[in-house]
Formats: sequence, structure tokens, C-alpha cells
Amino acid sequence: MRTTSSKVRATAVGIVSLLLLASGVGLWTQFVPSESAQHRADPEDQKQVTFGETIYRAHCAACHGPRLEGQPNWRERKPDGKLPAPPHDETGHTWHHADDQLFRLSKLGVKPPLAPKGYESDMPAFGGVLTDQQIWAVLSFIKSKWPDHIRDRQERINEALRQRQAKKGD
Ligand code: HEC
Repeated sequence: MRTTSSKVRATAVGIVSLLLLASGVGLWTQFVPSESAQHRADPEDQKQVTFGETIYRAHCAACHGPRLEGQPNWRERKPDGKLPAPPHDETGHTWHHADDQLFRLSKLGVKPPLAPKGYESDMPAFGGVLTDQQIWAVLSFIKSKWPDHIRDRQERINEALRQRQAKKGD
């Protein structure tokens, strides 16, 4: 079971790396199979949201902004070639990703296996810093800032990922 799924994962990561080279940042995580599809960030859970806000302020706000507004000119690469931190509010592309992908990006950082070898990014991996529960809480807080129509659209992205995973038998 595990062996098969790590093989699948290894293959997927290879394909993903190629795709990313061809298509630019932003889409690849949709193809990375999930370990944690059962988890979800819940913006309706007030306890999670309040807990998540303290984590956001301590660990994310310095780059993603106290109001989730991101860094100035976040669409343009900096002189060092790296991208600034994008907003996490509805003006950014955070909500273009399923919960599970946001979790992985936050835990593993924007680097392999979620980005191709050699991709350089300032987004740290929080895996060694925050627990899974803290990461889900911070995502709950971020989602609580989205208006309803954005939450609905992101929920459709979650649903599409669930269906792809169900098809693969993941
Ligand atoms: C040191 C600065 C920094 C900190 C601190 C930081 N980030 Fe980031 N984050 C970035 C940058 C830069 C990017 C864009 C990376 C890229 O695309 O190359 C990013 C991207 C992301 C993305 C992907 C968004 C997308 O739409 O592609 C997520 C999710 C994310 N960060 C979550 C978090 C969370 C959650 C925290 C706090 C626990 C956090 N970040 C803290 C700099 C930071």
C-alpha cells in the first residue's frame, strides 16, 4: 500500500517538476497526491480561527502582511529572482489551491517535492516549527478572511481534488 503510493508519489513529483518548468509556478500542487485529504481548514470553527490568528501573527504576518495583503508588487520577481510573498486575502491566489495543497505548501515550503529541484523561494517550510494542528488552524484563520463567494469557489477546488483522489484510489 505505502510502497505503491510512494512510487506513485515519486512519479507524480517527476511529472510535476516537468510541468512546472513548462507552466510556471502556481499549478503544480494540484498534481501532488495527498496524505492528509481527511483534514480541512474550517473558517466556521471560531476556536480554530482565534488560535490560528495568533500563529499567523507570530509566523506569517512579517511576510504575508498583518492584513494578509502580501508584499508590495508581489507579482513581480525581486532583483534576486525570487517572488515576494503573495497576499492571503481574496486578491491573491491562495484560494486557487485546495486546503490540502495549502497545508503542504505551508508544511514543506515552496521547494521540492512541491517545486522543481533548484527552485528558489523565500517561503519557509514550517514542518519543523509548527505542528500539523497549528498549520490547519492558521489556514482556518486565513480562510475566515475570505468573503463567502471566494470560500464557495475554493470549496469547489477542494471538491475537485477529492474527486481526483477518489478516482486514483488515494
Ligand atoms: C520569510 C517570509 C515568509 C514567511 C514568514 C511566510 N511566508 Fe508564505 N510565502 C512567502 C513567499 C515569498 C511565497 C511565494 C513563494 C513562491 O511562489 O516562490 C509564499 C507563499 C506561500 C503560500 C503559497 C501561496 C500560493 O498561492 O501559491 C502559502 C500557502 C504560504 N506562503 C503560507 C504561509 C503561512 C501559513 C505562513 C505562516 C505559518 C507563511 N506562509 C509564512 C514568504 C513567507
